[in-house]
Amino acid sequence: DTAGKPITCKAAVLWEFNKPLSFETIEVAPPKAGEVRIKVVANSTCHSDLHVIDGALWEKRMQCPLILGHEGAGIVESVGEGVTEVQAGDHVIPLWNPQCRECENCKSNKTNVCSKLRDTQNAGLMPDKTTRFTCNGKTVYHFMGCSTFSEYTVVSDLSICKINPEAPLDKVCVIGCGISTGYGAAINSAKVTEGSSCAVFGLGAVGLSAVMGCKAAGAKTIIAIDINPDKAEIAKKLGATDFMNPKDLGQIPIEGVILQQTGGRGIDFTFECIGNAATMKSAFYSCHNAWGVCTIVGVTPPTQELSIITLAIVAGRKLQGSVFGGYKGKDDVPKLVEQYMNKELNIDDFISQNIKLEEVNEAFDTMRQGKLARSVVKF
Ligand code: APR
Ligand code: ZN
Repeated sequence: DTAGKPITCKAAVLWEFNKPLSFETIEVAPPKAGEVRIKVVANSTCHSDLHVIDGALWEKRMQCPLILGHEGAGIVESVGEGVTEVQAGDHVIPLWNPQCRECENCKSNKTNVCSKLRDTQNAGLMPDKTTRFTCNGKTVYHFMGCSTFSEYTVVSDLSICKINPEAPLDKVCVIGCGISTGYGAAINSAKVTEGSSCAVFGLGAVGLSAVMGCKAAGAKTIIAIDINPDKAEIAKKLGATDFMNPKDLGQIPIEGVILQQTGGRGIDFTFECIGNAATMKSAFYSCHNAWGVCTIVGVTPPTQELSIITLAIVAGRKLQGSVFGGYKGKDDVPKLVEQYMNKELNIDDFISQNIKLEEVNEAFDTMRQGKLARSVVKF
């Protein structure tokens, strides 16, 4: 029985930005009050992890060494004092977007973004402002409240949800971020309507699941856009009706081509799933000038600004963001798992490969080249 004792295990540690992850033996302290220790069974790679490795996203407010990973699934090993929602043996998905049910945001149906743990989570700390990881006696920080690139991790009980124990953890881990983020952006944030036209910029797991969401919502045309032509096939399998590669258009910007092809009308719903200000502008200008809705899903470095022509918004074109697909973690993640179990939600096609933890640097290299959707580490 490991409850109440530190656990020694393997983890991928980022010691410095712009360096590969190292595979280390770490110590994971027992969960404190309101915390849960999880045996991680599977974790998939997300571009947000890669943004951190490449120092682009949160360098200013994060400290190394840290343990990345926020798209995981596992089994509860032990719980701290006062935890009632889960117990040892429960199958769970950690939530980087927690749900405290008490803050103003959680009580509102206007947002899914919980504010309770924001400051400590961004600082790589547990809610009591300490960490549960050490490596050779050195403090190691948490990431997005999850740190699932480790055989064991500790999370707040606000950042966890119990799921169907029959669900394959090496598949449903992707619901922890990529699939939910894109799928929900179409269904919940944009509220794509039947018979509408959609365009999705960027076809990683986030963009491909946005394509799937547009299709599920009954969109008539779905233009899938990526600079990697290999993404056309999978996008079409998931519901895209057209594929465009901006590199094939010569000097004409993609929004120009889209406006031309729609007789100047533009698209009803566009989605930016890359994290690049230039493609955000293209997605915005591709929208119908009166009712088009551009949903920004991609994340840029924190200092990046977006400038648009003011007249382009006056007639009613809308620009909005979407976090975790508008899903409330505890309420909705178990339902998405059920949708997968009932074959209403495709996850299998998103998983490009299964890898060992030690192969994760290579998997991130291929992601940098825009090649793979998801690589799932099985522990
Ligand atoms: N135009 C079109 N497509 C592009 C461009 C571009 N200028 N630049 C990159 N892409 C494509 C890549 O070829 C790749 O297929 O965008 C896709 C991005 O996919 P991933 O790297 O797998 O990223 P993903 O995990 O889906 O996340 C996308 O959402 O949550 C955020 O932080 C995340 O900003 C990231 C975005
Ligand atoms: Zn993610």
